[in-house]
Amino acid sequence: MSVEKKLQVVLGGTSGMGLATAIELGKMGPVIVGGRNEERLNRAVAALKEAGVEGYGKQCDISDRASLDAFVEYAASKAPIGNVVNAAGVDSGSSELIWQVNVQGTINVVEAFLPYVGGSCIVNYSSITGYYYQPTQEELAIWANPNAEDFFEKSFECTTTKEVDPRMAFMGPEFLTYIASKRFVQYYTAANALRFGKKSSQIFSVAPGSFDTPMLRQNSEEAIAGIAAGTAFGRLGKPEEMANFIVKLLEPGHEYLTGVDLILDGGKHAMGTVPQYE
Ligand SMILES: NC(=O)c1ccc[n+]([C@@H]2O[C@H](COP(=O)([O-])OP(=O)(O)OC[C@H]3O[C@@H](n4cnc5c(N)ncnc54)[C@H](OP(=O)(O)O)[C@@H]3O)[C@@H](O)[C@H]2O)c1
Repeated sequence: MSVEKKLQVVLGGTSGMGLATAIELGKMGPVIVGGRNEERLNRAVAALKEAGVEGYGKQCDISDRASLDAFVEYAASKAPIGNVVNAAGVDSGSSELIWQVNVQGTINVVEAFLPYVGGSCIVNYSSITGYYYQPTQEELAIWANPNAEDFFEKSFECTTTKEVDPRMAFMGPEFLTYIASKRFVQYYTAANALRFGKKSSQIFSVAPGSFDTPMLRQNSEEAIAGIAAGTAFGRLGKPEEMANFIVKLLEPGHEYLTGVDLILDGGKHAMGTVPQYE
């Protein structure tokens, strides 16, 4: 549901897929990007301008509601707010940081922007790794009340203290927290469909497989070659491919799309779940 000349917002728009999405969204109107690191932010705004986009930037930590509210206020002062893409996410650091950014941060973004939504769309970034995590009934009961005062503590404790499936233990506690956080993003996006529908608006998430970004480049060359080999095309995705995918779906004609998680992974999920024909 594109809204011409409205301000397109990208949290985590200062690197990787978020930055590529921000540049592509420039087709729809002015764009504002947010992220924590000032240097990265300035470079991203310069990249937007170089691409001919009317670009703005403001430092913002989505896990901190006050910081996000200041970002929203600044954004709204520039132009009426249109689509919002939340690409901000972390896959390393402590489990607590991962939960704060990927889970609490996603809730914060939706709650902070919901009052501005109308004929527009929020897009969250999940991950195909979310499909490898199975929440328990106890976790689902907590996830049903994301605005509860003790949501963060309860949800974090429940996920990080539960018994780990021995087949998944090799991943390590932080990565398990990461995949659980991405499963939450998928769940939370789906659970918001009706709220957004009532405002004639959409919400969906995109689940990247393996894309060539600074996040993925934290892995060794050997690991990256193995990851690329696990796709149908034998290569990583390009950030621009994800950007094109999202922005095409935000163009008019896709207004019935909401509440779903859309995989873009070069066949990685298919290859990992279904035996492939020779
Ligand atoms: N690359 C992949 O293969 C892959 C696969 C599956 C899912 N994903 C997901 O896709 C999204 C984009 O990933 P990417 O690979 O493009 O990562 P990236 O290059 O590391 O970019 C992440 C962006 O998020 C921002 N960010 C992180 N924490 C933030 C916070 N608390 N508040 C505001 N901004 C924050 C970063 O800026 P600052 O650090 O300056 O804040 C940066 O702009 C993430 O959610 C990631 O989990 C990626």
